[in-house]
Amino acid sequence: MSGAIGQVTDVGALATFPAGQLTAVAVNGQPAAVQNLGGKYTVYSLICTHLGCVVAVTGDTFHCPCHGSEFSATGTVKKGPATLPLPTYHSQTQNGSL
Ligand code: FES
Repeated sequence: MSGAIGQVTDVGALATFPAGQLTAVAVNGQPAAVQNLGGKYTVYSLICTHLGCVVAVTGDTFHCPCHGSEFSATGTVKKGPATLPLPTYHSQTQNGSL
């Protein structure tokens, strides 16, 4: 028996994600950001783990405008009130896209 375990979303061509930066994208209509670290792509959800506000990308870190939580470039909590890191999506590259 087989079944869908998740949706696959093409978030864009790899060339649109500059190395060392966070690039805003949408994953199934939800705000997210792609990080390219030397060709290793990580897709972070931009939904704050505190109360669900949309987190802003500031340079290579994340800042929540609602209550001031800050997340590092790898999504870990630098400053609360959030206690959980930003979730990441499973990602893969195929035919030059992510
Ligand atoms: Fe982000 Fe509260 S919702 S800090």
